[in-house]
Amino acid sequence: MSGAILSNSLTAQEIVDLTKRHTLFEWSSQAAIDPIPVAGAKGSYFWTPDGRRFLDFNSQLMCVNAGHGDPRIVEAIQRQAATLAYANPFMATEPRARLGAKLAEITPGDIDAFFFTNGGAEANENAMKLARLYTGRHKILARYRSYHGATAGSMTLTGDPRRWANEPGIPGVVHVLDPYHGIQRGWDDTPTALAAIEEVIQLEGPQTIAGFILETVTGTNGVLIPPDGYLQGIRELCTRYGIQMICDEVMCGFGRTGRWFAVDHWNVVPDILTMAKGLTSAYVPLGAVGMRRQIAEHFRDRVFAGGLTYNSHPLACAAALATIAVYEEDKLIQRAAELGGVMQGLLADLAAAHPSVGAARSIGLFGLVELVRDRTTRQPLAPFNGTSPEMAALGREFRARGLYTFVRWNTFFTNPPLSISEAELREGFGIIDAALSVVDAML
Ligand SMILES: Cc1ncc(COP(=O)(O)O)c(C=O)c1O
Repeated sequence: MSGAILSNSLTAQEIVDLTKRHTLFEWSSQAAIDPIPVAGAKGSYFWTPDGRRFLDFNSQLMCVNAGHGDPRIVEAIQRQAATLAYANPFMATEPRARLGAKLAEITPGDIDAFFFTNGGAEANENAMKLARLYTGRHKILARYRSYHGATAGSMTLTGDPRRWANEPGIPGVVHVLDPYHGIQRGWDDTPTALAAIEEVIQLEGPQTIAGFILETVTGTNGVLIPPDGYLQGIRELCTRYGIQMICDEVMCGFGRTGRWFAVDHWNVVPDILTMAKGLTSAYVPLGAVGMRRQIAEHFRDRVFAGGLTYNSHPLACAAALATIAVYEEDKLIQRAAELGGVMQGLLADLAAAHPSVGAARSIGLFGLVELVRDRTTRQPLAPFNGTSPEMAALGREFRARGLYTFVRWNTFFTNPPLSISEAELREGFGIIDAALSVVDAML
């Protein structure tokens, strides 16, 4: 085995065996994990060392928005590595300077100052810190159907069951209900949803609440697109009560929904905007917290009590600049909006063809299907936080047919790279159609 470790050509099985023996996989019991060994990737596909090819219908973890192996991003990273791989965060570097200015240009309203992190969880940690220091208040409102990251504070913000095993978390986080209540109960109308939140604000004491964090379009908890007026209503409540509105766009930012940022669909400017994933298309880890001018001004004469060794890492900043240039050069944001229309049609076709499809929704290239056991009762095909033989079979069918995507509870995702061609998109839906026929036959 030691020879295998030193050589450059492990077999697929050696990669899986060594990885499982010596590294820990996240959110899983280790015995249950059956990882796909990945050797390379290009465009919308990745492949195994023994040559099995997969269509990447989830952009890995909803992050490789620009597609795999783009030489423009690779070269920018190589160039930066050869010039200046690292400078500490008290220094100013050209990629850091350029990236701050570029983000100020593409983020909404007067958001024009950024604190860089290693990823999304740290971005949310620092968003919370900014809101607390800026307001002098301590509570943070967050929603139940959410994921904000796995560090202590972000895990506490997270509303979904990934939080449970990590409790107790940090003090001061209050969860509120979402406008969506699952496939059987469905959606609240906007006035009802907003009234429920205002009630919590009153009950908690508005003067104690520093911020309200929400995923603009909720990601892993169901591609939940806010009903008309909801986001504007949250903005209005936050303004009225002096609460900082924090939009987590770690997953839905950078073109995923067909706009640079999902808030752009509703013309809402949050006080704080967090991002990661699509910021570099995951070529190098990077997250960021954007803040409105008044928050940045607050820290002119006051200390910002936060830091990271890899804050503003030059390699990551260079990768982000190159990634954003690719989005612009290839018009990938507009492309996501246009292909999003095609995807909406393909999702509607699935719903028409398969009785197991209970709901299908998408915005841009951010899509999800909820499966049900029966269209009349709308009983989900797997329970909340659980799985079922049918959902497991669906996952196996996707894998056997060369499609990679996320299958979670009673849902699966359709989140390809924004660079995907229409033919590849249709190829993916063809595989989904065949796999769903297997599920239908089980019911
Ligand atoms: C909406 C959202 N926020 C935060 C995070 C955490 O980001 P990271 O895993 O980079 O820490 C994620 C990760 O999936 C996410 O989807």
